[in-house]
Amino acid sequence: MATSELNAAQALLAWYEAMGVDEAIGEVPLDCFATPALEPAAPEAPSPPKSVAKPPRQSIVAARPAASDSLPDRSAISQALSLAELEAMVAAFEGCALKRTAKSLCFARGNQEARIMLIGEAPGRDEDLQGKPFVGRAGQLLDRMLASIGLAEEHVYITNTIYWRPPGNRTPTPQEVEACAPFLARQIELLSPDILVLLGGAAAKSILGTSEGIMRLRGKWLTYQCAGSSIATLATLHPAYLLRKPEDKRYAWRDLLMVKEALEPK
Ligand code: URA
Repeated sequence: MATSELNAAQALLAWYEAMGVDEAIGEVPLDCFATPALEPAAPEAPSPPKSVAKPPRQSIVAARPAASDSLPDRSAISQALSLAELEAMVAAFEGCALKRTAKSLCFARGNQEARIMLIGEAPGRDEDLQGKPFVGRAGQLLDRMLASIGLAEEHVYITNTIYWRPPGNRTPTPQEVEACAPFLARQIELLSPDILVLLGGAAAKSILGTSEGIMRLRGKWLTYQCAGSSIATLATLHPAYLLRKPEDKRYAWRDLLMVKEALEPK
């Protein structure tokens, strides 16, 4: 390759990366908004007699995975009696288009018996590669924050408001969050933690159903209603935000001390 072509190719790759296109997902471009094509007819299938009406096109299309986001069946989700069953349901769910571009499902990490559950926003690149929430730089900071109040992975259960990485780490759409929300609600119900910690404004807004900013929500005990009881809930700053704005760690530290105090035997 000539030097000028090489330079042009490098400049193009750098531009892609700046736009958030930082990895090759497949050989051919994928149009997530395209109407799915009809399945070709099975070659050996006998053609229907002329008097039998063909099924309407819509019913064939509906049988294929969703091209965009759709809500899961809440009553089916309530049948999941364990976190493992729920994870299997999430893995089989085709209603969130992010599943098509993500490498892995990031359901949770930590201890299923934990008293404290933490919820972030969305998996990033490292999480997608490892199939676990909060394992990249933000996750490492989160682990250090937890360690500062004596908590290790075995003491916590960590998940996100959505289970698949949005391409290029873009902000999840409201539809993507909504598609995953019934699973997350059941996940909270099954874990039944004493304390819920919401990491960042996006998680706080979607779990608490508020439009209040994180700086107003943080630093005070709130409640999340779950299966007829209230879970003590604290919103705090997201570790990724703290990586960008370390001077605000003092607020997160105050919030962590509230969690520590709440976990102490009375
Ligand atoms: N940020 C999140 O909100 N979740 C992760 O899992 C990683 C980074």
